[in-house]
Amino acid sequence: MTRTPVTVTVTGAAGQIGYALLFRIASGQLLGADVPVKLRLLEIPQGLKAAEGTAMELDDCAFPLLQGIDISDDPNVAFDGANVALLVGARPRTKGMERGDLLEANGGIFKPQGKAINDHAADDIKVLVVGNPANTNALIAQAAAPDVPAERFTAMTRLDHNRALSQLSKKTGAPVSEIKKLTIWGNHSATQYPDVFHAEVAGKNAAEVVNDEQWLADTFIPTVAKRGAAIIEARGASSAASAANAAIDHVHTWVNGTAAGDWTSAGVVSDGSYGVPQGLISSFPVTAKDGKFEIVQGLDINEFSRTRIDASVKELEDEREAVRGLGLI
Ligand code: NAD
Ligand code: LMR
Repeated sequence: MTRTPVTVTVTGAAGQIGYALLFRIASGQLLGADVPVKLRLLEIPQGLKAAEGTAMELDDCAFPLLQGIDISDDPNVAFDGANVALLVGARPRTKGMERGDLLEANGGIFKPQGKAINDHAADDIKVLVVGNPANTNALIAQAAAPDVPAERFTAMTRLDHNRALSQLSKKTGAPVSEIKKLTIWGNHSATQYPDVFHAEVAGKNAAEVVNDEQWLADTFIPTVAKRGAAIIEARGASSAASAANAAIDHVHTWVNGTAAGDWTSAGVVSDGSYGVPQGLISSFPVTAKDGKFEIVQGLDINEFSRTRIDASVKELEDEREAVRGLGLI
């Protein structure tokens, strides 16, 4: 039986994450090796020519699953019939720029895109916001799409999750495949909290395996939380291939589910769990099943974790206040 193609819209398609992302989507890594895809690329007018170049290269790969590429600078066209939307296009942080500075610059992009998703996307639309500040941009888009269930809007903290897996693997010597149940809490920013207290390394509690609270506080947490800035410092540009990889992971997990006995991290709409105010798009431990993320319930939060989760959530609340003040939600 021939499957109906899934329409995937990627914004910022001519940017560096777009370039690392599109070929992987078209090759089947986003949704599965048997799922045909149609790509819709959204760019600003100045980006259209480069997007056309990328589309030519996609053609030249002759991907068997790729059933068409449309390019537009109009969100109403680009999101028409979209089943999956990857909102990547935004202004990346450059050297010396604080993420907070990005709120105003990027907020205006996500409101019209949220409205276009509301008006034109398919009923089963799933949205991942990558463009920073990702959590609050997702909130802006979600607020502009009242007809779409709020939980369909998510923000990417999977890159942080993968970074934490890798750092813990290096520290313990266990391969990443042996590390389970790590959590990124809060905002995709330097206040995020990578939590190992419920994580397992080869079946043993990770915090006990590490047995070094000072390493957690002074090395692990800041290394993970400031990795984005470290990459910018080293490359002179923000992470691209690893960000695209995390976007693939996020959507693949959302659609295909988490493995038994494990969870992942994603920025999802809070239902008030763990004291995170309702409606904020905050990173939580999540499982995925039948195309839905669910926040893992019932974890004990120790004092070490509590103060750090609260600090990141406070930053999200401040960002929400700021975009309210700007009339963006
Ligand atoms: P880039 O500058 O290379 O590309 C951005 C592209 O978006 C450009 O081609 C630009 O023309 C386009 N664009 C701008 N406004 C647009 C709009 N309104 N509609 C459609 N396209 C638009 O940037 P990049 O390196 O690809 O990064 C993209 C975003 O992802 C940045 O905000 C960056 O900070 C963020 N990022 C997030 C994570 C994460 O983990 N959440 C990780 C890395 C990067
Ligand atoms: C990252 O985590 O690599 C990016 O979000 C950094 C940035 O600010 O673009």
